[in-house]
Order: sequence, then C-alpha cells, then structure tokens
Amino acid sequence: MASFSVIGGTSSEDLAKKIASKLKSKFIKCDLRVFPDGESKITLEGIPKGKVIVVQSIYPPVDSNLIRALALVSQARKHSSQVFVVIPYLGYARQDRAFLPGEVITMELVAKMFKAAGASKIIVVDIHSMIALDHLQIPATNVSAVGELVKYFKKLRLKDPLIVSPDKGGIERARNFANIFGVDFIALEKHRDRKTGEVTIKSTDHHEVKGRDLILVDDMISTGGSIMKAAQYLKKQKCGKVYACCTHALLIGDAEKKIKKAGVTKIVSTNSIPCKTNNVDISPIIVKALV
Ligand code: R5P
Repeated sequence: MASFSVIGGTSSEDLAKKIASKLKSKFIKCDLRVFPDGESKITLEGIPKGKVIVVQSIYPPVDSNLIRALALVSQARKHSSQVFVVIPYLGYARQDRAFLPGEVITMELVAKMFKAAGASKIIVVDIHSMIALDHLQIPATNVSAVGELVKYFKKLRLKDPLIVSPDKGGIERARNFANIFGVDFIALEKHRDRKTGEVTIKSTDHHEVKGRDLILVDDMISTGGSIMKAAQYLKKQKCGKVYACCTHALLIGDAEKKIKKAGVTKIVSTNSIPCKTNNVDISPIIVKALV
C-alpha cells in the first residue's frame, strides 16, 4: 500500500483519524486559531510525507471551512506532488446552475480554487448533483454511502418497509436504496418556492404506505422542511413508523425538533458532518476510493 499522511482538518478530525488508522498512515492534527477579524490561522502539528490526504468537510460555517480546506491543500502541496482531498460534504454543490436570471454559479469558482490550490484529486460523498462534480477541473470521485446506510436499516425490525424519496429529484437515490435493500420505493411530488424556499408536497393519494414502516431517503437534511412536509403528508396517509435517512445531516436551526414533531421516529445520517444523528461511518468507503 502507498505511504500516506492524513491531515485532519478541524471539520473532520474524527473521520480523518479513522481513515488514517484504516490506511495505517500517519495522522496529522491541525491547530486552529480564529483571529478577532474572523481570519483562520491553521498550524499543522506534524510534517506530511508521501502522498497527502486532506480531510475537510465543507459544512457550516461553509466559507470558513472552505478557506481552511484550500489552505490545507496549498500547504500539503509544498510537501507532496499528490494531494488527495476528501470533502465528504461539499458546500456550494447546490449552486451548480442558475435557476433564476443573474444567479451566480459559485460552484464554478470553488472548482477553480481547488485546482489553483494544488489538489490532485477530490473525493466527495453523495454529492447533491453530478453537475457540481462536472465543474471540478481535476479528477473527482463521488462515493455513495447508500450501501452503508442500508446496512444500518437492515438491522432494524421494520414492518413491510417501503423507501420514499421526498421529491422526484431523489428518485435514483431511492431506487438504488430500495434495490440494495430488496424492497420497493415511491417518490413524492415536492414543490419548493425558489424565492422563499418554502416546501409543499403536491402528491395526492399514496394508499400503498398504509400500515407500512417508511424510510424517507434524501442526500441531505438542511432546514428539515422537505422531510417535515413529507412526514406530515405520509402520516396523514396512515403509514407506520417514519425514519428519516440522509448522508449529510446539516440540521440547521431547529430542523431536528421540527422533524421529530412531524412524527419521525429517528433520523439516521453518516459522519460526513459530525452530529448526534450519526449512526453510519463512511471511513470504509472513503478508504476504498483512496487505494
Ligand atoms: C433538494 O433537492 C435536496 O435533495 C434536499 O431535499 C434539500 O436540500 C433538503 O433541504 P431542506 O432540509 O432545507 O428541505
């Protein structure tokens, strides 16, 4: 196996330690100080050797975690010609196209910055859309956590489980989840107001959910609006238990509370973003993509 050094950015230190341990590689911790004006000052607590892996998820505060990721890549490049960047949650991936006239496609800039900083390859997990990945101008791999999430749910005793995507955009994810699980899936019809962000479920009848335990599958839970509205709708259809499952649990503000109030039994997520709903470790699938 190639010799690696794994730099654990402060947003992903635990995950980076797990990756380093699986690769039997040197782990380098980062010390972070934030100056009064908001600038980040990072100090590596070790010298990288061999190929370097930088692990830094770009979740809130997105702009700070982004500049820290870029700074780490730039520093790593001074020690190695091969710098692999693991960004489990890639902030700005949703800004991959213009929905309204004049909207800036900021993902294009993010892609240019990683190339300029010296990244050789980027590894992301369940990116919001492949269009975002296409903006990257260096080799990039999107790793799917769906198989790991399914393993978690297979251990639960669910009543006649059915996979539900809260929107048509998530249909492929739900289909993939359902195929691995060996059960059926459906997709609801969701509408999001592009100006206010407000979500409504347009679906009418879904009698097939009656009495069944449901797993609502999404790539991310941000404000919780999509899952909350979907769960409220499904409960009205007299389903059994509703589980919310996602790769990236951003859980902004009172998202968790809103989701629970809508009748969701449990939120299950991966450690792409460290939080208390993490039940699934993605280090094994990241390691597979690295070697
Ligand atoms: C949308 O297309 C995404 O797949 C998620 O459904 C969405 O980003 C979740 O956001 P929120 O939790 O704010 O509804």
